[in-house]
Amino acid sequence: MEIYQIPVTYEALNESLEVLTAVGYENWYYDIPVENERIENGYKTRTLPQENAFIHVVIQEKSDFDHVKKLSETLNVSPTHIQMNEFNQDHMWQEPFPDVQLDGGWVISFDTEQNVERDKIIILDSQGAFGTGLHETTQDCVNTILSDDFTKQTVLDLGCGSGILSVAALLKEAEYVEAVDIQPVEREVKRHAQLNHVENVKVLQRDAVNEKNLWDGEFDWVFINIGAEEAVTLLNNHPQLLQVKNFLISGVVEWNVEYIHSFFKDAGYSIDQQMQTNEWVTVTYRK
Ligand SMILES: C[S@@+](CC[C@H](N)C(=O)[O-])C[C@H]1O[C@@H](n2cnc3c(N)ncnc32)[C@H](O)[C@@H]1O
Repeated sequence: MEIYQIPVTYEALNESLEVLTAVGYENWYYDIPVENERIENGYKTRTLPQENAFIHVVIQEKSDFDHVKKLSETLNVSPTHIQMNEFNQDHMWQEPFPDVQLDGGWVISFDTEQNVERDKIIILDSQGAFGTGLHETTQDCVNTILSDDFTKQTVLDLGCGSGILSVAALLKEAEYVEAVDIQPVEREVKRHAQLNHVENVKVLQRDAVNEKNLWDGEFDWVFINIGAEEAVTLLNNHPQLLQVKNFLISGVVEWNVEYIHSFFKDAGYSIDQQMQTNEWVTVTYRK
């Protein structure tokens, strides 16, 4: 597979894509120039229209055809500005992502074909939901869960994404998990439960933050890895959840941590454990 990267101005992007499609290049994607701006609750992405965008044209079958010349003429871009990268697709598909090493000898593995009986492993077959184990917040949540004992505990996993936190709790003997996301993640969560030989997870698609009173306080744990402001809005909309004894909160940036601490302190909780990786803070609160 070959991918040709072509710089175009931000204003010319849409027209360039139309022209490419018209001349038969239909397999493309593009990057627009963005910058992450720090805001109180985390980051906001801003486009930078004054900078170049990049179109990437994908050619599946390698041939002798001079695509640089054709693309250069079609988009009126100098051939010297067009960069070609070649990928060996067979090789790409064969290589699973490397394992993610966690605390206490645990690993997250993306090798779904393995038939070795191993302790301390979470197997993922990521299908696009957040929660591959690569992000700091997920890793710190998983490490927190795996260092605890969830025997006979019931868990409400809000913003469950791939279901990785639910699976971790079930591997630590949780009795039942209700996993909730605004996205349609049921298939992915169930797949991860099956790969890890755990059951007793119910998956719901709900706007947990803005809908009101969806749950009572009949859980031992609530996990929320969505963001500090979202967590506070969610709990103001579900005050009965503040009867739950244990909370795992993540997705909080270090400059907003006092906000979430004071919310839980006012609700009668104390900090049990706090971790930070880069700017991302993960906290467990108990009462
Ligand atoms: C940072 S990811 C966390 C995923 C996973 N729990 C983990 O720790 O890796 C946040 C998740 O919350 C979900 N989410 C965002 N807003 C939500 C809302 N209003 N209600 C329910 N889920 C929401 C997103 O779809 C996403 O899957």
